[in-house]
Amino acid sequence: MAADYRPQRILIYAAFWWWFVGSLLAFLLVIAFGAADLVARAAGWVYRKTRVAMRTATHQHSAAADAEAALLSSSRRRFLARTAVLVSATPFLAAGYGLLYERQNVEVVRQRVQLARLPKAFEGFHIAQLSDIHIGPFTTADYIRRCVTITNGLEPDLIALTGDYICWDPEAQGEVVRVLAGLRAPHGVFGCMGNHEADIGIEDSITRLFAAQGIRMLRQESAHIRLRGETLNLIGIDHGSDLAPMDTREVEGDRRLQQLKALVMPNTVNILLIHYPHIFGQLELGIDLTLAGDLHGGGQLSLDFVHRGFNLGSLMGVPYIRGLYENGGEQLYMNRGIGVTGSPIRLGARPEITVLELTRET
Ligand SMILES: [Fe+2]
Repeated sequence: MAADYRPQRILIYAAFWWWFVGSLLAFLLVIAFGAADLVARAAGWVYRKTRVAMRTATHQHSAAADAEAALLSSSRRRFLARTAVLVSATPFLAAGYGLLYERQNVEVVRQRVQLARLPKAFEGFHIAQLSDIHIGPFTTADYIRRCVTITNGLEPDLIALTGDYICWDPEAQGEVVRVLAGLRAPHGVFGCMGNHEADIGIEDSITRLFAAQGIRMLRQESAHIRLRGETLNLIGIDHGSDLAPMDTREVEGDRRLQQLKALVMPNTVNILLIHYPHIFGQLELGIDLTLAGDLHGGGQLSLDFVHRGFNLGSLMGVPYIRGLYENGGEQLYMNRGIGVTGSPIRLGARPEITVLELTRET
C-alpha cells in the first residue's frame, strides 16, 4: 500500500513533530533551570545567613546596604523576566532549525581505522559509508542525489550501504535504487538489508533492483575484494524484521550467526556490513571492522555537546550510537545516516557521509 504523501498531511506531520520536539526540549530546560534555581536559592540562603551573623557581630547594619540589596533584587527580577522569554522560545527555535536546516545539513566525516593485519596493498584504502537513506517526503530523491554527488566527489575505493533504504512505502524502492545507482567506486558498491526492508517485506525485490544497477546486496554472503594479489573479505548479514515475534527473531538471529561464522575467513581482514551490530565484540568471531547504522546518531535528537551520552539512544540503554568503538580487538563504526524516519527533525545529530581510511599504522 502506498503511503499518503499529500502536501497538507506532510505539513501537519511536520508541525506536530516541531511542536512535540520543541515541548520535549522545553521540558528538559525547565528541569535544568529548576535544578539551577534550587542551587542558587540554597547558595543565597547560606550567603544571607552568613551576612546577618557578621553584621550582628560587627553592628554595621546600614540603610545604604539595604538600598543596594533592593536595587540588586529589582534588576535581578528584570533579568529573570527577559531570560524566561528567551528560554521558552529557544526549544521551539531549535526544533525549527532541526526541521528546516540540520535535517539535510550533511557532514562528511573522515575516520582513520587502524587494522593490525591489513594487507599492505590496502594501506590507505578508502571506504565511503552511507546508511539509513529512508527515501520519503522528508528525505527526497534530490537530497539523496546530492549525497551521491558528494560521495562520488570523495573518490572512495569502495562504497558500503548499511540498510534502511525506504521508510514505510514499498513503492519508493524503485526510486531510491535509481538514485543510488549513481554511486561510483572502482571496487564496487555493496550493501546489506535494514529492518525497514524486512518490516515491509521488500528484501528480495530491492535486492533484484540493486543487482540490475550493478549494486550487490550481501545477504548472508561475502565478496572478496582483491588488490595486487591481496584480499579483503567483505560480509553482509540481514538485520531481519523488528516487527516479527520475539521467538522468530531469536531463531533467525541464531541462524544468521551460524551463517556469519561460516563466512569469516581466517588470516584475512574481515569487514562486516550489518544494520545494527547486536553481537559486536561478544563472540570473538574474527571480524576486524563492522560498519553499521540504524540509530540515526542517537534517535536524531542528541545533546551530546552538553553531556556525552545525553541522546535518545543512550537514554534508552542502547550501547552503540555514533562514531568508532573498540571492543576485544574488534572495531565498529556507527554511521548517523543521511535520512530521517519518524520525526523529520535532526538536532545534534547531523546527517553523515563517512569516509573510512584503512591503515596498518598506529
Ligand atoms: Fe534507519
